[in-house]
Amino acid sequence: MSKRQNYQDWCKNLVIPVTTQALNSAREELVYALNRINSLEPVVSTAALHSKFVILGRYGDSPLIDQACAPDEIKPLHDEGYIIKTLSQQGKEYIVITSRTDRGALYGCYHFLRLLQTGQDLSNLEVREEPVNTLRLLNHWDNLDGSVERGYAGDSLFYRNYGLTPDLTRIRDYARLLASIGINGIVVNNVNVYEEETRLISDRLPLVKTLAEIFRAYGIRVFLSINFAAPIQLAGLATADPLATEVKAWWRQKAAEIYREIPDFGGFLVKADSESRPGPFTYHRTQAEGANMLAEAVKDFGGLVLWRCFVYNCQQDWRDTSTDRAKAAYDHFKPLDGQFAENVVLQIKNGPMDFQVREPVSPLLGGMEETNQLLELQITQEYTGQQIHLCYLVPQWKEVLEFDTYARGPDSFVKKVVDGSLFQKKLTGIAGVANIGSAPNWTGHSLAQANLFGFGRLAWNPHLPVEEITEEWVRLTFGSEQVVVATICRMLMSSWRIYENYTAPLGIGWMVNPGHHYGPNVDGYEYSRWGTYHRADHTGIGIDRTVRTGTGFAGQYHPENVMRFETPQTCPEELLLFFHHLPYTYRLQNGKTIIQHIYDTHFDGVEQAKGLKESWESLRDYLDEERFTAVLDRLKLQIEHAKEWRDVINTYFYRKTGIPDQRGRKIYP
Ligand code: GCU
Repeated sequence: MSKRQNYQDWCKNLVIPVTTQALNSAREELVYALNRINSLEPVVSTAALHSKFVILGRYGDSPLIDQACAPDEIKPLHDEGYIIKTLSQQGKEYIVITSRTDRGALYGCYHFLRLLQTGQDLSNLEVREEPVNTLRLLNHWDNLDGSVERGYAGDSLFYRNYGLTPDLTRIRDYARLLASIGINGIVVNNVNVYEEETRLISDRLPLVKTLAEIFRAYGIRVFLSINFAAPIQLAGLATADPLATEVKAWWRQKAAEIYREIPDFGGFLVKADSESRPGPFTYHRTQAEGANMLAEAVKDFGGLVLWRCFVYNCQQDWRDTSTDRAKAAYDHFKPLDGQFAENVVLQIKNGPMDFQVREPVSPLLGGMEETNQLLELQITQEYTGQQIHLCYLVPQWKEVLEFDTYARGPDSFVKKVVDGSLFQKKLTGIAGVANIGSAPNWTGHSLAQANLFGFGRLAWNPHLPVEEITEEWVRLTFGSEQVVVATICRMLMSSWRIYENYTAPLGIGWMVNPGHHYGPNVDGYEYSRWGTYHRADHTGIGIDRTVRTGTGFAGQYHPENVMRFETPQTCPEELLLFFHHLPYTYRLQNGKTIIQHIYDTHFDGVEQAKGLKESWESLRDYLDEERFTAVLDRLKLQIEHAKEWRDVINTYFYRKTGIPDQRGRKIYP
């Protein structure tokens, strides 16, 4: 029997004994996808019509489902977990997709569809799957005028001219897309909350309500970024002091209003005292006092406060070498560990700076033992090629998750902070800044979809191997032809390192054009107020962040990591210049000097970018014209931009040092 016939045999009858909103979504997904994947048209019924069928529902919805799972199998199952099994009993052969909740069953459906899409055998299924992380969130940096801060895939998917876009179907498709990768919460506006967006919690609340209705059907709760000064802006209060009685009362009242309209509202995301956003510091209150006041307001409704730790002085004087932006988050938040309310979750960027191509892991992850934590990743490629360059970030995120913090001795990996097991916390997980927009293919660069997919899979289970996620995405997206799978996987897996090769070297970061952050500008942030310096002179480069002679940032880690980062010989080489100021003649482990390493990686990076294009071109006969050409066009641009990076960086360092390339390649004097 062919695979198609086989699937037809199993799926011709879809039994759904009970309907709820999420089960209805699941039904629609199955019917739609079976049709699209295998041209099947299943008959949906509440009872079995054949001796072979697929049955979908919650445990308790039908004896057929209940017989499939022992109570002690289902009882401990996570709310959003599911079981998929092939059974043969009483003359019937059937596949059960079940869970304790309808949301779990919906996730089960998506898993089932992945099996079909990748051509798996259905005759012996035995799947038990649970999300490892509780909070799996996307942050949208969308503004109501339709723009997206750091968006590289068109305009906002949600807003146009201060209202919703007319195409709610597209938003619904987006909800489906997110549910299919396990996302369960979405922040629908920019962390920088300006005047218009502040009103999302007042007269513009109906927009949020509509979005919440769309996302609810797919098990996704809606959150809002709020303006800490909203009581002043919206109600004309004289203060936003978190300890002032009238401020507390105002937020309580506000929360009640929101929950009346949106009973499952997720809560607030807050960027306070950061990059000129208002916050508790104005009133000489701590970050904990600010967060706890809001937490109190949403607590009775089951709401959360996601409080960002991206707090630093963005008015630094570049002449001041004692202030180190990398230290700021830890310095502000570590002393407050244990002071945050139970429904506050601190949202911590993966690195201490700002989503650079390479950074050490933030020492707050593993440093805050008494506080709920969310790891914040950036899916949108702000500093990593802006969805023009291919830069698959899942390997980077995986490295972050596998970083050993030593908080509880060896094996205290970030993934255990994130899944809550290390410090026994329930409200933990991962948040990602979305890379989605109005572009017809969602992400601009087709291959950037892999970043969103991989994010969802890692947010669901941070233990998954990158290779597995990558191959799964390629097969789901481009089919299972061996050469296609192998080639695209290779392109994706090598792309982060390639991008790193031709951009800022050895963990130093930045070197981009100010403002839009695209393209090379070695001194772009060198003499500015942002705290982002490389301190290159004619003899050396890098920031001394050691405890012994530098800013002391390295001392924010647990001792094992302090020791590693403290000396150049034990510091991971890709982070060498993040932690140390070294002469250009310092030799790396492979014997190369730093200056030669800079030249080599920049020449190599361009050649490797050309290699990406060649790999893609080799797939011409296997891919549809539209995607083939669109990706090819971007790969060509990538090569041109990589050359610009190479030449600007190499020339800059040649001019600074006067040291020629040992291999005599072209550098512009
Ligand atoms: C970066 C980014 C900003 C953003 C900020 C944040 O600095 O460039 O656009 O607002 O991060 O995360 O708050």
